[in-house]
Amino acid sequence: MKKKFIVANWKSNFTTKETLAWIEGFKINDLELMSKEIIICPPFILLPLLKSLIVNHKSNLKLGVQNISPFDEGPYTGEISAKEIKEFADYVIIGHSERRKNFSESNEMVNLKIDQAFKNELTPIICVSSLDQVKELKIDDNLNFMIAYEPLFAIGSGNPDTPENADSMAKKIKAILKNAVLLYGGSVTFDNINDFSKMPNIDGVLVGKASLDAKEFYAIIQKT
Ligand code: PGA
Repeated sequence: MKKKFIVANWKSNFTTKETLAWIEGFKINDLELMSKEIIICPPFILLPLLKSLIVNHKSNLKLGVQNISPFDEGPYTGEISAKEIKEFADYVIIGHSERRKNFSESNEMVNLKIDQAFKNELTPIICVSSLDQVKELKIDDNLNFMIAYEPLFAIGSGNPDTPENADSMAKKIKAILKNAVLLYGGSVTFDNINDFSKMPNIDGVLVGKASLDAKEFYAIIQKT
């Protein structure tokens, strides 16, 4: 069976206390992870806590972050370098549309961050909302990376793309980047996960809002 990927993007949510409550509700030990890679992308400050919970529970859960510095370590006030992240996480979301929009992240910036990820052995999860953005990526197709197709109208709206549209975009992206693991993101919930996960070109999902509810996220994993 082909491995499925389920990524939780917690965005700017959760305090320490809320994270502990989430873990409590998630049944971290019960997961059947054999053919599934579950990646939690929390805010940076929760990484040490989550890492120690994962170690203590001997869990297969993986960690990612939602952004990295486009630069090496050094005099870049307020930034967190890929090298620092590597201590805690294996994945990094790059180019999410909320960053492209709210922080003016350009294609050039996205490419710098992808370079940083590869240099530091982090797997990038690169978010795109169009084929034009895919064509702007400077990426070695032989390396390990994921592309998350997230149409703008679907993000946080409760109005997902149709599974057929998402699959057709996934197919087009894979025609350009043959080695890409392809995720769909945008209003994925317990109710629609089946429809996306059965699509032939979709290898997994990127889940925002629904990942904040531990029980719903757990159920999404079971159904994927
Ligand atoms: P959503 O977010 O599931 O809340 O739509 C997805 C994302 O922004 O990655």
